[in-house]
Amino acid sequence: MSLDNIEEIASFIVADGKGILAADESNPTCGKRFDSIGVESTEENRRDYREMLFRSKGMKGNIGGVILFDETIRQSAADGSLLRDLISKQGALPGIKVDKGLQPIEDCPGETVTVGLDGLDERLKEYASMGAKFTKWRAVINIGDGIPTDKCIDANMDALADYAKCAQDNGMVPIVEPEVLMDGDHNIDECYQATERSLKSLFNHLEKKGVNIKGTLLKPNMVTSGKDNSNQASIDEVAEKTLDCLIKNVPAELPGVTFLSGGQSDILATAHLDAMNKIGGFSWKLSFSYGRALQAPSLKAWGGKSENVFISQDELSHRAEMNKLASLGQWEEELEDR
Ligand code: 13P
Repeated sequence: MSLDNIEEIASFIVADGKGILAADESNPTCGKRFDSIGVESTEENRRDYREMLFRSKGMKGNIGGVILFDETIRQSAADGSLLRDLISKQGALPGIKVDKGLQPIEDCPGETVTVGLDGLDERLKEYASMGAKFTKWRAVINIGDGIPTDKCIDANMDALADYAKCAQDNGMVPIVEPEVLMDGDHNIDECYQATERSLKSLFNHLEKKGVNIKGTLLKPNMVTSGKDNSNQASIDEVAEKTLDCLIKNVPAELPGVTFLSGGQSDILATAHLDAMNKIGGFSWKLSFSYGRALQAPSLKAWGGKSENVFISQDELSHRAEMNKLASLGQWEEELEDR
């Protein structure tokens, strides 16, 4: 595939209903996922798990990019081939998470800012030399009593814009991820407001820093009820409010919106995406960049046992295919009965 510039790369990743497999869990996060299936999080187990995912048949045609963690972009498969080359063979582009996690903000209890700008340019140059075509930076916004504050939103969106410019200057597409967390008992309208404030601030900062929007992908949360709210919004309400918020706050020239799943179940994440694409009325591709919602059934089926590799790969392939259909507005619930 010949992709000469960031605009072509961004469009390629989300072409024809394809989306992104987020496999960039840090080692501690991967540890938590492995704990849930009773597997020890060693370097070799992490390698085996990800090698299994990247060799799944359903990667081809459904997944346009895979986000990796630093360890994985350097790792080789059991037969010695680089994991990132397995991804390319499946017709997908390798990408890399480049932020360095969250730090508390002074005088803002319960809020964090994402760090990692120090030395970013050098790190990006190395990742580009390894063949990474895109990058990811995740900012986290919490909803709670008196939060998010403007200070927290501004600090996070400013850093996202600095990161995005640096990624583009190094020839890679930035995925900008302002994640409003589902944690809490807030209602869907509070999520709408926090998401709207974050997106407005983000696109202001991106414009101010001269980031090329046509060479950028947005990875937002959907507008949902907080996960502890006893009155959960319906699929239709989530779809309508998410679309309304995006249409009002995201420039039409952006090539793609690739949602995070944020703790939604695998089927619900697919159903929401499909509902939005069935409504339509927007210019960007509306697709997925799921971590848990793509991997959860596969992780469970694997259980760390080599005899489960095929069934586990089948689970990932199925979710990838279902989400591709949802990105085209062609998913039906009955397709889940296998
Ligand atoms: P989830 O889809 O599990 O939220 O993960 C996506 C991601 O990359 C978070 O940064």
